Amino acid sequence: MTERLRVHVDPDKCQGHARCKALAPELFELDEFGNAHEAGDGIVPPGLEDKAWLAKSNCPEIAIDVIEE
Ligand code: F3S
Repeated sequence: MTERLRVHVDPDKCQGHARCKALAPELFELDEFGNAHEAGDGIVPPGLEDKAWLAKSNCPEIAIDVIEE
């Protein structure tokens, strides 16, 4: 069985670069200050795993965690 992924944004690290939202709009939402948080409960729907890893590797603040559950 494939492991399920979950994304999490560390609000203390996020500086609003918004690359996560550009690369994986299904997985991240921006608040009124432009800072990101994970959409919903952060569960990565099947087929979007690559976008989760891409967002993590492109965040300049290393604010995104991808958790394998
Ligand atoms: Fe924040 Fe990184 Fe996204 S700084 S807005 S989590 S690209």
